[in-house]
Amino acid sequence: MTDEVILRIEDVDVSYGDFRAIHDVTMDIRRGSITSLIGANGAGKSTLLDAVMGINKPQKGKIIFNGEDITGMRTSMIVRKGITMAPEGSMIFEGMSVKENLLMGAYIPEKRKKKEELIERVFTLFPVLKEKEKQLASFLSGGQRQMLAIARAIMSDPKMIICDEISLGLAPVIIGDIFERVHEINGSGVTFLIVDQEVHRSLENSNYSYVMVKGGVVMSGASAELPEDEVKDAFFGINKYA
Ligand SMILES: Nc1ncnc2c1ncn2[C@@H]1O[C@H](COP(=O)(O)OP(=O)(O)OP(=O)(O)O)[C@@H](O)[C@H]1O
Ligand SMILES: [Mg+2]
Repeated sequence: MTDEVILRIEDVDVSYGDFRAIHDVTMDIRRGSITSLIGANGAGKSTLLDAVMGINKPQKGKIIFNGEDITGMRTSMIVRKGITMAPEGSMIFEGMSVKENLLMGAYIPEKRKKKEELIERVFTLFPVLKEKEKQLASFLSGGQRQMLAIARAIMSDPKMIICDEISLGLAPVIIGDIFERVHEINGSGVTFLIVDQEVHRSLENSNYSYVMVKGGVVMSGASAELPEDEVKDAFFGINKYA
């Protein structure tokens, strides 16, 4: 990990109609880090992530990736620049096999030649997906679906992976497994921006954290140095964060 910034979010607002879901959001995501985004339901985490991916258009502010302004760029172009998202709820293709799902992640023309190499990498990281490569994705367990979503993200050979609600509905042992893989992938240089509903786990598994309340950033810093009690106050909307 370096101090270099791979993703800068600068003073971003996103509204749905008249409702300003996030406001004045500024974040610097360091290259090679695991950065977590912490906040209660409705805090604006997914709205922000969707803005990074070009799914939402900011009304104000800029998003700079790898030194390039990607604000308002098409999602497919943003993926080509090197960011992919494993979205909330995995969003795998139920009617396709595990392998077909993976191949859907490898649609970037420049990366097609690397496809076999990427599949090998994914199967080494997630042997269970290799075992089930010919099975329909609809037969996968919750944990396996999340693994498939992350594996599919790897298939575009990204510099950065965004995982929204990485542990949603999963048993603790499976969550541990998934974070182990995240740390392993991170070890090969991929930056992660992660949302997990559990404050302690978010801090424990990341280098840096940003805490959001009601659409704004209220706290940030090195995860090991953030006061967990205060992060929880923000998360639960108590004390000065009410
Ligand atoms: N498409 C939409 N249209 C209108 N309002 C929306 C839309 N999507 C989200 N919102 C509102 O914007 C705010 C932020 O929602 P968002 O989904 O970004 O929060 P979140 O932090 O991801 O929450 P969760 O933890 O529940 O996933 C909420 O008040 C939500 O109701
Ligand atoms: Mg969300």
